[in-house]
Amino acid sequence: MPEFQRPRGTRDFGPEEMAKRRFVESNMRETASTFGFGEVMTPTFESTDLFIARSGEDIVNEMYAFEDKGGRNIALRPELTASVMRFYVNEMQSLPKPVKVFYFGNMFRYERPQAGRYREFFQFGAELIGAPSIEADAEVIALAMQSIKSLGMDDAVVRIGHLSILQSLFEDIGVPENQQVACRRLIDKQDYDGLKNLLAEISIDNSETLIQIIKIKGGKDAIAQAQELTSAGEDGFTYLADLLNRLEAYGFSNCTVDFGVARGLDYYTGMVFEIDAPSLGAEKQICGGGAYKLADLFGGQEVNSTGYAFGFDRIMLALENSGVEVPSQKLDAYILPIGDSARTAATEILMKLRNAGISSDMDLMGRNMSKAMKYANNIGSQKVIIIGQKELDEKSVTVRDMESGEQELVPISKILDYNFK
Ligand code: HAM
Repeated sequence: MPEFQRPRGTRDFGPEEMAKRRFVESNMRETASTFGFGEVMTPTFESTDLFIARSGEDIVNEMYAFEDKGGRNIALRPELTASVMRFYVNEMQSLPKPVKVFYFGNMFRYERPQAGRYREFFQFGAELIGAPSIEADAEVIALAMQSIKSLGMDDAVVRIGHLSILQSLFEDIGVPENQQVACRRLIDKQDYDGLKNLLAEISIDNSETLIQIIKIKGGKDAIAQAQELTSAGEDGFTYLADLLNRLEAYGFSNCTVDFGVARGLDYYTGMVFEIDAPSLGAEKQICGGGAYKLADLFGGQEVNSTGYAFGFDRIMLALENSGVEVPSQKLDAYILPIGDSARTAATEILMKLRNAGISSDMDLMGRNMSKAMKYANNIGSQKVIIIGQKELDEKSVTVRDMESGEQELVPISKILDYNFK
């Protein structure tokens, strides 16, 4: 029985898994770069106050927050939007607008762990700061859609809402301002009974229209359907219709609206969106984002910003579930020197291949031919290079293709001309 276990809600990743994760990460990086976004990195921990500033003291319960040896209140970042906006206010405000940044990193939340929900997890996110809101919203959603598309995930569903619609509906039925956040939280959790109960407690019994509207999802016709039920929220509905048209121009005509998107975090002010991967079941949300204002709260000038974060671990699970091939790392060549006399020549060939960017490895265990073949097969090496006395005499090596079983004698001087890829 091993003495130490991983902390609850954390994971170890082996080389095969890491190769897949790095492949997906670099694919997402590339997509963000083609959209003109540049990468940023901020500290893993921040002063706890940064996260309390918008979300209130309660957020501390959901964080890894502690006092450091100097008595400072520190929290491991639960997300990166607040850090990026702190960075923006401190150092990027004078840059030409818009500022377009993306990030990848580990986040920490004190959650109850379950499939797809961890205490340490990874996000790939983007923030667009300082552009007019509808332009920014369209560009940011388009980047999220393009990221999924280039990964080959075609069953994801994007649902877009607008908080001004919810707010108008709240005002319409008289929900006091100090209860609106609580209502949004319940809507975010799709806890409609909880919402009805809360509204009943504050003597609001005409919540039927609100509940009907937050359940509506669909394309442009869903907007008309909601507007038939209420005269409130007109600006929000018009905004969403305009946004869908813009996304169509980007080539994304499959975006849907969902007036019940309320988001769990408190800083959103306008458009909000989520993306689901239906194959994931309960924790199916792979992305969340929207328009927000944080710069002024952090001592900067007010500025429009829109962003999102993908739950990277959920993307990996979704890709696996939907059968999307993610290449794992493969070794191009495995070199088997037979006998000590072949080892020096084998080492020279090994380094020649490695220097040429051909991934290669050499037997370090003194395996015989049949065990070495089995091992090479096991680690997925494409070719095996055999070098024994006969080969040394002929200044050649035998290259065996592991898939076809074909063997070929290749002169050592021509080894780099051989097609290992
Ligand atoms: P969020 O919705 O809290 O938004 O998180 C974004 C995504 O991170 C979620 O959709 C989910 O896929 C993933 N995620 C969240 N918690 C966990 C967890 N415990 N385990 C695994 N995955 C998780 C934000 O964090 C905002 N900062 C997004 C944003 C950026 N809004 C504007 N800009």
